[in-house]
This record gives sequence, structure tokens and C-alpha cells, in this order.
Amino acid sequence: MLVLGIETSCDETAAAVVAGDKRVLADEILSQQAEHRPFGGIVPEVAARSHLDHLDRLIARALEQAGVRLDAFAAIAATGGPGLIGGVLVGVTTAKAIASVRKIPFIAVNHLEGHALSPRLVADVEFPYLLLLVSGGHCQLLIVEGVGRYVRLGTTVDDAAGEAFDKAAKLLGLGYPGGPAIERAARSGDPKRFGLPRPLLGKPGCDFSFSGLKAALARMVANHGPLDAGAVADMAAAFQDRAAATLAERTGNAIAAFRTRHPRGDTLVIAGGVAANGEIRARIGRLAEQHGLRLVAPPPRLCTDNAAMIAWAGIERLKLGLTDPLDFAARPRWPLDPHAPKALGAGVKA
Ligand code: KG4
Ligand code: ZN
Repeated sequence: MLVLGIETSCDETAAAVVAGDKRVLADEILSQQAEHRPFGGIVPEVAARSHLDHLDRLIARALEQAGVRLDAFAAIAATGGPGLIGGVLVGVTTAKAIASVRKIPFIAVNHLEGHALSPRLVADVEFPYLLLLVSGGHCQLLIVEGVGRYVRLGTTVDDAAGEAFDKAAKLLGLGYPGGPAIERAARSGDPKRFGLPRPLLGKPGCDFSFSGLKAALARMVANHGPLDAGAVADMAAAFQDRAAATLAERTGNAIAAFRTRHPRGDTLVIAGGVAANGEIRARIGRLAEQHGLRLVAPPPRLCTDNAAMIAWAGIERLKLGLTDPLDFAARPRWPLDPHAPKALGAGVKA
């Protein structure tokens, strides 16, 4: 069973060919980072135009890499949301066109479900498991109970973790994308030299907030005067330390909630672009160990946005007979758990 996956919801154009037995036959990713860098962040119109310019060629390359033709596929899966709507439309429209010409099923995959199911492509991970999803667009703690079955324990009330890293990097003059730049700078820094707050420290619950930390860093930069390389490194280290601490603390609360609901649940998964951060991985690793949980962290290529995870989610859905009609409408918003309580309201931001 072969599925073609397409991902266009953010700033990566991607196409992949994945088999039902978990072989990844092609995994093409084209990052638009260079196109957005001059703006210091992602520009939706630039992203949509770039997806349109590159997607067909990327699909052709994926087919060539896999050594298959379009008639080899059991289904076509594309990210149907959530994301930047112009980009999502490019992927969805292309996938529908192929599905309709080849007369095979079209599957609209929730981008978050792509991340959520990705560990099952590379490891034997059974439901249920606890997932910390940390990327540029999302920061959530979810119990993954099955395909299409998610319990959201917490989400961010303001910035996603990756977004916070990107903004912090901009404040420190470190460029875009900020996460890897902060991590590099922090390597030679002292996290204790500067005092920055740990968001929501000691507060119950699993929601996140990064705006207070970001604002504190902005004030510190403004008050400090010109920054030399040493100060930049120390501030980057302090920021990374507090961000990692809050992620670990909130995940600790989620582990308690997970264990209450699933006393025998034994796996914690960390996914999303921010999961590439060594300091964050190490802290979450120690936390898992303390609680006797197995930590699964998909390799970085599968953690950041890619189409292999979309093809794989398509395979999981197809196996259950879950396909979508050709009039499926792309969704800018699409929560995985529509019943989740609202995140902490205003005023709780630390
Ligand atoms: O998952 P992803 O590729 O795209 C989204 O779906 O958002 O995540 C990209 C985000 C960016 O904000 C980037 O700064 C962050 O992940 N990131 C990192 C690191 N590598 C990427 N954040 C912290 N440390 C890193 N090493
Ligand atoms: Zn993503």
C-alpha cells in the first residue's frame, strides 16, 4: 500500500512516498527559509506563491526517487489544515486533482495529527501515549488515544515555543529561524548571569505562556545597552534555560494527568521543530526517566515539517477506511480535540 503525502501548511513545501509497511521511499522537502529571512518571519503571501511555484516539481522528484508512477498509489494525503490558508489550498487542490484523475481516495490530514502519529512511523509505539508537540506554530500537550482520538491537556495562551525562540533571537540580533541560533549562542553562555522568569512556575495545569519571558528579555536587552558576544550568549542561555524549565514543568503536570487517565501508559513522545533542541530534549529525557516513562523522539527530519508524516497519517486513516470527499474545504483552524477546555484566560499569563 503506497500513499503520496503533500505538506504545504507553513514554510516547507514537501512531498513523500510512504508504504504501509513503514518504508519511506521518498521524502522531499524544500524549505522557504531563505525567502522569508529578509522579513524576519514567515510572510503568508510569499509562502503561498512559493508552494505554487515548487509543489509540482517536488512531487515529480518524489515519484522519481521512489521509482513509482502516479498509478501506484492507494490514496493521496495532503495537509488540510490548520495552517496558512493560501499554502494549505495549494496542497489540497493539487491532491484533489490527482485523486480525481487517478480515481483514488483523497485524505485531508490534520497537520497536528501528522506530528502526533509520526512516532509510529519510526518506532513501535502503541496507543495511548502522551505527546509534547512543540513547534513554531504549536505548543500543546496531548494524550493520543488512537487515530482521530485526542485529549488536549494544555496549549499555549500566547506564543508557541518556537515562536518565542524566534522572537528572542530577533531581540538578540541572532537572525531567523531563531531556535537553532539561540541554541548555538547558548552553548558558550552562562544561564545564571541574567535573571529571567520561569513562566507559570509552580502553577497547576498544563497550559503554556511565553509572552512574559519574552517581554522580560526585551526589557533586559533595552536596559543593557550595546550587547557584546558574551552578553548575547549569556542571555540566550538564560532564555533557553527558562523555556526548557517551563516545558519540563508543564509536561510533569501532564504526566500526572496522563497516568490518572491511563495508569499503565508508558510512553512520552516529543515532536515538532523545537524538539531538535538538545537542552530541551535532555530535560524532557530526565523527566521521563524520573517517571519511568519511555521517551520517543522522532529524528529531527521527521520532527520538523515534512510530508512523510502526512503520508503516514494518511496510511493510518486509510487502514480504518477514513477518507474525505473532494469538496473538503481547507481549514485555517482545526483543533485536534474540539472538546478541550479553553486555555488559561488572560490574567494568568506569567
Ligand atoms: O515544526 P517546525 O519545523 O515548523 C512548524 O510547524 O512550526 O518548527 C519550526 C520552529 C521554529 O520556530 C524554530 O525556531 C524552532 O522550531 N526550532 C528550534 C530549534 N530548531 C528549530 N527551537 C529551539 N531549538 C532548536 N534547536
Ligand atoms: Zn508542524
